[in-house]
Amino acid sequence: MTTYVTGTTIKQLREARKLTQMELAERIGVSSKTVSKWETAKGLPDISLLQPLAQALGISVIELMNGEHITNQNISANMLRCKFYVCPICGNIIHSLGNMVASCCGITLPALEAEEADEAHGVVIENVEDEHFITIHHPMTKQHFISFLAFVTSDRTQMVKFYPEGNAETRMQLRGRGYLYYYCNQHGLFKIRA
Ligand SMILES: [Fe+2]
Repeated sequence: MTTYVTGTTIKQLREARKLTQMELAERIGVSSKTVSKWETAKGLPDISLLQPLAQALGISVIELMNGEHITNQNISANMLRCKFYVCPICGNIIHSLGNMVASCCGITLPALEAEEADEAHGVVIENVEDEHFITIHHPMTKQHFISFLAFVTSDRTQMVKFYPEGNAETRMQLRGRGYLYYYCNQHGLFKIRA
């Protein structure tokens, strides 16, 4: 089922912003009767009105459709609490210091939950001079591959993008203690302490 804005959400958000039906209606160029219809489930706002409606209610379209107001509270975020979001359609990668409303290709992306590395997604780390050579022994075909690797400490993230038909290996300096994250397009996000 596709999520769409509900009358209850519109009413709650309008009241929270201390707006009358008339005031909200004026802001988006409809009649107060129209707003009343939406709120009593006798009609739905046209899709072209979602953006102005969200703006008038002070939230994003995604929040309006999900019926919840998400506040990003990342002012003093520790990078170790960072989140990764990957778009399953285009492969875009979003790295955020905390929870956020992330959307790509028209869909809302969940924050990925990292699993401990399993046998099929093991990592080998070798010291090479003052750097580390990191290898993930994993298929690298167009259908099944490691998309990226990131080494995260409390104040720094180093990210490397991999591509199918290349190798999932890289050289980097692992400074400090942190986590090595890597993402398989079929099996999701993995992490190991490094
Ligand atoms: Fe995999």
